[in-house]
Amino acid sequence: MAKEKTLSDKMEKIVSLCKRRGFVFQGSEIYGGFAGTYDWGPLGVNLHRNVVGEWTKSMNMDHENIAMIDSSIFTAGKVWEASGHVSGFSDPLVICNNCHTKLRADHLLEIIGVVADEKMSELQINKIFDDNRTKLHCPVCGKKDFGKVTAKSLLATSTLGMFEEGDEQVYLRGETAQGIFINYKNILDSGFYSIPFGVAQVGKAFRNEISPRQFLFRKREFEQMEMQYFVSPKDAPVAYEEWKKERMAFYDRLGVDKNKLRWKQHENLVFYAKDAWDIQYEYPFGWNELEGVHYRGDYDLSQHQKFSGVDLSFFDEETKERYIPHVIETSVGVDRMILMLLADAYTEDEMNGEKRIVLRFSPNMAPIKVAVFPLLKNKPQLVEKAREVFVTLKKELGAVVFDDNGNIGKRYRRQDEIGTPYCVTIDFDTLEDGTVTLRDRDTGKQERVEISKLLESLKLN
Ligand code: GAP
Repeated sequence: MAKEKTLSDKMEKIVSLCKRRGFVFQGSEIYGGFAGTYDWGPLGVNLHRNVVGEWTKSMNMDHENIAMIDSSIFTAGKVWEASGHVSGFSDPLVICNNCHTKLRADHLLEIIGVVADEKMSELQINKIFDDNRTKLHCPVCGKKDFGKVTAKSLLATSTLGMFEEGDEQVYLRGETAQGIFINYKNILDSGFYSIPFGVAQVGKAFRNEISPRQFLFRKREFEQMEMQYFVSPKDAPVAYEEWKKERMAFYDRLGVDKNKLRWKQHENLVFYAKDAWDIQYEYPFGWNELEGVHYRGDYDLSQHQKFSGVDLSFFDEETKERYIPHVIETSVGVDRMILMLLADAYTEDEMNGEKRIVLRFSPNMAPIKVAVFPLLKNKPQLVEKAREVFVTLKKELGAVVFDDNGNIGKRYRRQDEIGTPYCVTIDFDTLEDGTVTLRDRDTGKQERVEISKLLESLKLN
């Protein structure tokens, strides 16, 4: 997998484990890679499914008033004009005149402790950059020779449906949120929801990131889990506080270390935002945004009303008031969440005098729940019994594997490395008394359990 200069030791180990065991592969790897893209391998797909499942449950199953949608990646170009992305969704690009590496000016300034915001104008950031030029050097070649800072649009363009000059420019969506705003009225009109209600969606988003980096943290093709909560202006501040509380509590369900999560308020609010807080996680490369919980006022619906000409106001039959609902947004990337889970779970320890790598996933997140082993692969009765146990567990749990490769110690190590909470070994005693050895990933403790009681012995939630 391509190495990034910025990766810490721990990140290097995580990246290497991800490839070795089939969590994540570099996109287009056999062609030398395609920057900013990664492919989920077999274990990555399971982990991904668990993350999305838990998030979906927290939105759709735990609330009566949150609808799920799945909107198109491609939309009318006007959507992105209305949202402000066409004119104002950019990152400050600066190019090293010596080695021609493309860099983010705000990231360079961050290295020397100068805060520059992505919301600053080209003029403002050039001023700050020029004031600090003498202190800034290229992280690749070390030279202090940069060109001017220019704002580069993050929107990825497409030619889908564009056949002649003058056809409206088409974009791949830069966030899933806009698919929700443009469907807000459809959902309201369907008759099952009324203010306040939320709309949640999981889907791909695309951004022309200047320097995709830190593995899954900043990709060009990534996935978002977003929820927009439509609420009356008077109820919005209370709803905002409730959503902040709920979103932080969500990370308990994933078993994430509380000490590595914190709130960070935005210092420079975009003009329409009423308040904006991020949940940050302490990644191996430092504290960074995991999820945004933002109070966006009526900006989004007002913009789409203005650009589309469609009335997006809501009439409250009880209060006889008409208003454009305010929006509370919770927005998190699947990829960032998975990177957090990997970093949080990654541990090196010693068990029975042997060093091991173990992913201490919370069982509900573990990509494989149970591994079943016959003690010896050349004893047909053991293999047959082990297959029987395996098939029974697989029918119930799905994410169960059978492994008869190498000695038991090696098989344990392999499962520890992918975070499998339980290993079940079928041995000669099994044939006599119908019990198996159940081994716990974290403690290494082994106990004899009757096959008929195996399922109830597993703590998987
Ligand atoms: N609708 C609001 C919105 O899109 P954002 O802060 O640009 O806000 C929300 O993105 C979340 O999406 C981030 O907190 C992060 O988890 C994820 N995200 C954003 N850009 C990403 C990227 N290039 N790669 C991976 N995840 C990204």
